[in-house]
Amino acid sequence: MYNIAIDGPAGAGKSTIAKIVAKELGYIYVDTGAMYRTMALACYRAGIKSDQKEEVIEKCKSVDVSLGYENGTQKVYLNGEDVSIEIRQEVIGNMTSAIAVYGPVREILVKMQQELAAKNNVVMDGRDIGTAVLPNADLKIYLTASSRTRAERRYKELVEKGQKCNIDDIEKDIIDRDYRDMHREVSPLVQAEDAVLVESSDMTIEQVVEAITKLVK
Ligand code: C5P
Repeated sequence: MYNIAIDGPAGAGKSTIAKIVAKELGYIYVDTGAMYRTMALACYRAGIKSDQKEEVIEKCKSVDVSLGYENGTQKVYLNGEDVSIEIRQEVIGNMTSAIAVYGPVREILVKMQQELAAKNNVVMDGRDIGTAVLPNADLKIYLTASSRTRAERRYKELVEKGQKCNIDDIEKDIIDRDYRDMHREVSPLVQAEDAVLVESSDMTIEQVVEAITKLVK
């Protein structure tokens, strides 16, 4: 199997890029952030706060998170219910990085991710793919961009969806989330030693895709 790991901070464009690269290569795209978001949604719906460690862990152990594909698009299911859209809310994104610090929560999802990669050619994106999930991946990319650039991209997306938002608040949320992801004890976000760094602040999506597909070839 050929496994490509793409890691990097929030809003660096990992999923956009990974989706296109997977399509071009005929590989499966695995969005691991969606899996963590689904666990956070389960806790949120149950009224559990992210600092209630034992309750969070118990809830995550009791739910079923699964992935499916519809016309090449990844769907994520919580106990069989398609929650692919609901998990995208900002409130869930922020809660996710707070529950992703717990080792037992990560263990459940890492096992699923490793099983997927053992059976399929994958482009998998997340925070710990090159370092913890697939340390032997054939290609590792660390995709990043300045926090301002990432906030501007997110702002544009939200405005296009007709949502009211403030770019400084978005940048602050991004910086807070990166801090939590980079400073947690278990599998913090860090560039793997053998990952190729792609700094995309001044690159278009096409340029990043081209750079990665060239590395695969
Ligand atoms: O990539 P996305 O923004 O959807 O990820 C949401 C959160 O899930 C991240 O901020 C991070 O805390 C967590 N995550 C993680 N490990 C991964 C993927 C996501 O801890 N492999």
